[in-house]
Amino acid sequence: MAIEWTDDLKTGDFIIDSEHKRLLKAANDLVDACSKGKGRDELVRATDFLSYYTKTHFSHEEELMEKNAYPEKESKLHKEWHKGYISEIEELSAKLKNEGPTVVIMAEVNNKLSILLTHIRTLDLKLAKYIQEKK
Ligand SMILES: [Fe+2]
Ligand SMILES: [Fe+2]
Repeated sequence: MAIEWTDDLKTGDFIIDSEHKRLLKAANDLVDACSKGKGRDELVRATDFLSYYTKTHFSHEEELMEKNAYPEKESKLHKEWHKGYISEIEELSAKLKNEGPTVVIMAEVNNKLSILLTHIRTLDLKLAKYIQEKK
C-alpha cells in the first residue's frame, strides 16, 4: 500500500521536507515494483535507488547539523540512528534481491518504512525546529 504524504510528516524545513517526499516516492516505487511483480531488473533498480537516496538524505541532514551547530548530544543520537537504519536497510536490500519479495520480507519492508515515518515525526522534526529557531 502506498504511503501518502500527510501534514503530520511536515517538519517545516524546505530541504528536509522535499527530500522526505522524494524518499517516500522511492519507497512507494519499491513496494510497487514488488507487489506488481515487475520483474527482477525493476526490483533491483528500485531497491538500489531507495538505499542510495536514504544515505544521501541522511548525509544532507547531517550536513545541516554541522552547519547549524546542532547540539552534540542531539546530533550524536540522530547520527547513530541514521547509521543503524542504513545497515538494517542494506541487510534487507540484500535479502530482497536474493530471495525476492516474499510475504515475510515485504512485512519487514513495511515495518522499516513505518519506523522511518516515526523518525521523521520525532528526531527530524526536532532538528528542523532547531534550524528554524536559529534563522
Ligand atoms: Fe534524520
Ligand atoms: Fe529525514
